[in-house]
Amino acid sequence: MDRMILIAALCGLLVHVSIAKDLVGGPIKPPSYDVIKTIPPKNETANNIAKHFLGRTSGIRGPPSSQDTYVYNVVYIIDDSGSIGNKSFQQGITALRMMIDRKGDRSDYAAIKFSTTASVLFPFVLGCQARQKLLNVPYTGGASNTQAALRLARTELFENPNSGLTPGGGRSALVMTDGQSNINKTQTIPQADLLKAAGVEVFVLAVGKYTCAAIQEMRGICSSPYQDHLFRVDDFKSFMDVVKLIPKSNNLLPCKET
Ligand SMILES: *[C@@H]1O[C@H](CO)[C@@H](O)[C@H](O)[C@H]1NC(C)=O
Ligand SMILES: *[C@@H]1O[C@H](CO)[C@@H](O)[C@H](O)[C@H]1NC(C)=O
Ligand SMILES: *[C@@H]1O[C@H](CO)[C@@H](O)[C@H](O)[C@H]1NC(C)=O
Repeated sequence: MDRMILIAALCGLLVHVSIAKDLVGGPIKPPSYDVIKTIPPKNETANNIAKHFLGRTSGIRGPPSSQDTYVYNVVYIIDDSGSIGNKSFQQGITALRMMIDRKGDRSDYAAIKFSTTASVLFPFVLGCQARQKLLNVPYTGGASNTQAALRLARTELFENPNSGLTPGGGRSALVMTDGQSNINKTQTIPQADLLKAAGVEVFVLAVGKYTCAAIQEMRGICSSPYQDHLFRVDDFKSFMDVVKLIPKSNNLLPCKET
């Protein structure tokens, strides 16, 4: 109950501030978008993803990032719930695959899929292998057990010595979702907090329209500041458009010959 009042107060405050600005006017500032209130233009979202998730300091304008040998352990946490539908789900996966080509550093990837339950699709592998493993991910549909996925990312991937994790490497997770959790949802933020406490920088890609309460949950899941960790797009097709605005990198390691 207290949490609901807090959320209502936060949302009310945001509306209040924006009305006050409109009334007062004031000096013209460069465009700024509060991702809690609005879905920013695609180029701004692309720039934010490039800078903060892909680690390209100059965003979409700069050159691809350096020939880095530092290993990042990246986990894609993919919502597979019934509200998405197979077509959008496949577009989302395609965009996630395209992002691997744009990261341009030495990153390994693992993936989790969640709807009513959560499961590990694959543990940490090279980017080029992750691109292949993401080619045939079946869509199942169901509810949104986000907390189970966040828990699994920690227990089965980041804290599991057999997951292929590079110890001492960077740790990040990207939750791609189209809505709020609806199974054991009081555990969603606590599980996100445990993941962050395990040293993981948590990003959220929120797809579609969100109520104020729903976007506050996304803000609670991601690391702070939310301006650098919460990305929003209208739909999964738009997510693909956004990723295409980020220049490709040519640093992707080739798949190992076996
Ligand atoms: C996005 O596009 C707008 C309008 O064309 C432009 O003013 C803005 O600088 C662009 N932002 C980025 C990050 O490129
Ligand atoms: C989803 O779409 C993919 C690609 O179009 C297709 O191969 C697959 O059979 C579809 N799955 C379901 C459950 O409809
Ligand atoms: C919900 O949480 C309870 C208590 O932690 C647990 O026993 C139950 O399995 C969870 N349900 C799902 C669907 O994860």
